[in-house]
Amino acid sequence: RVEDGVRVFDLAARPGTMDLLPGFPTPTAGFNGPFLGPTLRASRGERVRVRVANELDEATSVHWHGMHLPPEMDGGPHQPVAAGDTWEPEWLIDQPAATLWYHPHPHGETQRHVNLGLAGLFVVDDQDTPAGLPGEYGVDDVPVIVQDKMVGEEGGFLLDTSGNEIGILGSTLLVNGARNPFFEVSSQRVRLRLLNASTARTYNFGFADSREFALIASDGGLLASPVPLASIRLSPAERAEIVVEMAPGETIMLRSGRVELGAVAVPAAFGGEDEFDVLELRAAGELAPSPPVPGTLARIERLRVEDAAGLRDFRLADRKINSKEMDMGRIDEVVRVGSTEVWEVRNTNPYPHNFHVHDVQFQVVSIDGQDPPPELGGLKDTIYLEPRRVYRIIMRFEDYTSAKVPYMYHCHLLLHEDEGMMGQFVVL
Ligand code: C2O
Ligand code: CU
Ligand code: CU
Repeated sequence: RVEDGVRVFDLAARPGTMDLLPGFPTPTAGFNGPFLGPTLRASRGERVRVRVANELDEATSVHWHGMHLPPEMDGGPHQPVAAGDTWEPEWLIDQPAATLWYHPHPHGETQRHVNLGLAGLFVVDDQDTPAGLPGEYGVDDVPVIVQDKMVGEEGGFLLDTSGNEIGILGSTLLVNGARNPFFEVSSQRVRLRLLNASTARTYNFGFADSREFALIASDGGLLASPVPLASIRLSPAERAEIVVEMAPGETIMLRSGRVELGAVAVPAAFGGEDEFDVLELRAAGELAPSPPVPGTLARIERLRVEDAAGLRDFRLADRKINSKEMDMGRIDEVVRVGSTEVWEVRNTNPYPHNFHVHDVQFQVVSIDGQDPPPELGGLKDTIYLEPRRVYRIIMRFEDYTSAKVPYMYHCHLLLHEDEGMMGQFVVL
């Protein structure tokens, strides 16, 4: 609803249960319901306010992942919401159309809260989205929130991170909270907004028959032009929007197959060989025609390395970044407002990490000195780090300063994040 020109949303984090195993209800948590939360949606140029009520019996927070907003509104570890309290962040939507998301970010407890089901999508729209893209929510524009769960013999999502270095690798897949889901497609083309909302697992999404699809958007919005692909790798927190074409009457399976994790010690130990059916698409006998995907999707202003004020180094190893564990009382980096920066990021462990930066969307400059592949050619806020490779990313810090309230950068494998693989920067 809109109050005094501000779009207002209500989100209540509360405990719930889910019937995954007959007779053994699984304790969960969700926003406004037992599991996950509503898709919030607003347009560029709108002011939004979210009334976040915490009906859990412990503190949490709600972070707007991928959103450009003031640090006081970010919902990170510095904006906890105590049990029984409410928090009302308000900000201006000021970024291109994108599939963003929200999730708790209380320091040390993020994995547990997200694993219980606290997460949802935040879709940003804008005027510049070209006509011709499937865009009817729930009809030809469908969220696909993917989470793997380790389910105990008596129900319950296990928080067992003893099996490997990276966290929970479950064998039960939930898509929008459902097991073995299908979707009835009524149009020739359907757009899937994929979100990897898992705590640790990296997926490789594609179709069982290897058909090509068009990648149209990455984390921060539409690509300059669609990229034809047969599969797309998404590490925790990454998003991709894809458009797939179907023939009348056919059924196809969106799957996650073996995933290339780079130079990791034992790929199988990190889920690299696991395969999942994700979502079955069943096309009706007659499909409404859809226009072809436009050849030009967005105008992305390329940031130039020559304009960068500086180069910062980030080495991810063990549970530390640059040999430091997260300390909420320490500012690790100070960035000048208005500046463009190149960050060089690398994973020096033989197992997966990724890297997420709050406040901004970045562009990938290079990987080991080479141009990034086309699927990494758009706006990103999270990137998978293959071991031993050197990733250079570039970003501009336009506005929103604070000497006191920092933004975060961290590994989005939530076990790692909780155990200290996070740092803090302020924009001044
Ligand atoms: Cu999706 Cu700092 O988080
Ligand atoms: Cu974030
Ligand atoms: Cu990590």
